[in-house]
Amino acid sequence: MQKQHRGGFETLAIHAGQDPDPATGAVVPPIYQVSTYKQDGVGGLRGKELGAAARWIEGYEYARTDNPTRGALEECLVALEGGARALAFASGMAAADTLIRAVCEPGDHVLIPDDAYGGTFRLFDKVLTGWGVTYRPVHMSDTGAVRAALADHPARLIWVETPTNPLLGIADIAALAQLAKDAGALLIVDNTFASPYLQQPIALGADVVVHSTTKYIGGHSDVVGGAVIVTDTALGENLYFLRNAVGSAPGPFDAWLTLRGAKTLAVRMDRHCQNAERVAEMLIHHPAVAEVYYPGLPSHAGHEVAAKQMHGFGGMVSFRARGGPAEAVEICGRTRLFTLGESLGGVESLIEHPARMTHSSVAGSELEVPADLVRLSVGIESVDDLIEDLRTALG
Ligand SMILES: Cc1ncc(COP(=O)(O)O)c(C=O)c1O
Repeated sequence: MQKQHRGGFETLAIHAGQDPDPATGAVVPPIYQVSTYKQDGVGGLRGKELGAAARWIEGYEYARTDNPTRGALEECLVALEGGARALAFASGMAAADTLIRAVCEPGDHVLIPDDAYGGTFRLFDKVLTGWGVTYRPVHMSDTGAVRAALADHPARLIWVETPTNPLLGIADIAALAQLAKDAGALLIVDNTFASPYLQQPIALGADVVVHSTTKYIGGHSDVVGGAVIVTDTALGENLYFLRNAVGSAPGPFDAWLTLRGAKTLAVRMDRHCQNAERVAEMLIHHPAVAEVYYPGLPSHAGHEVAAKQMHGFGGMVSFRARGGPAEAVEICGRTRLFTLGESLGGVESLIEHPARMTHSSVAGSELEVPADLVRLSVGIESVDDLIEDLRTALG
């Protein structure tokens, strides 16, 4: 098993799974850029003597199955989210796909958010339906609607994003965890937007946490990755089996970059939150903006729940352009510091048009996003520069 660590969040981010390398004393876990390992006789796997980085497995045979750099990342992630076991994946979508197929069987039914990342919707709608899993989009901020959907059709799992991508909707994790428990369903929370620094779904009763580590955990827009953190060790074993069977694990350099990002997650998130709050404040008073979505605003429908379950409101802000869809597209093209691009959670600010970019796969579905919506990933640059850039772009 992965070692359980104690300490404050920042301490865990820097030290969990990251003891000095037993072979050399290197203070950072080495990148074990290797595909296979020498065996000391047939069945004589090495690994135990590597100490810290290898303590939770019997030994190493092949890097799709296990790799010490990946193991160090997983030990850190499980400490940050507070579960029983973490598994790293090649992307957030690889994590989601492997997880759903570890939990569901053909014929199962699942509830998904009616405002979810477009790729997650596409996975359920275009891939998993072909495998025999049915889904129903539900407004997860409305606990009553989730209860009614469960009463209508038993579900194997409830998939929740909070805050959601791109409308920053908030779901009450503790309330949904109780509903899921009563209904015999698993509660899975995609914690990508909040990161474990701002929100810990497992402590609130969730069974599983999923991440696109590409975003805040990696934090520098230089690596794609995913993770699943489980509370049930049997599910962890099942996932470990499936990840090896399908080959959805990340490479060692990607695991190393992600772990390097995780070390500074807390300080970055504090600044993301501060900057996003200032940006949201500016936007609500701007005449070119019709509506602002940011859970830190007291006017946001999910503000109270967010304040209860998050330690800060995050770095993502969305808004609707008063001038309509064409103006939203224009605004995206007029910023100088905010780079026009998909993804989020990096130190640099990004701007995008969800309807035509990240969420084009939900066009025509119940999850369709407003065409006048602009999404900002507010970075950690000097906030006055960010505000000036947006003011200029808004005209
Ligand atoms: C909330 C959320 N979940 C999952 C994903 C998928 O992650 P990845 O791009 O690492 O596959 C994304 C990507 O944008 C996301 O925003």
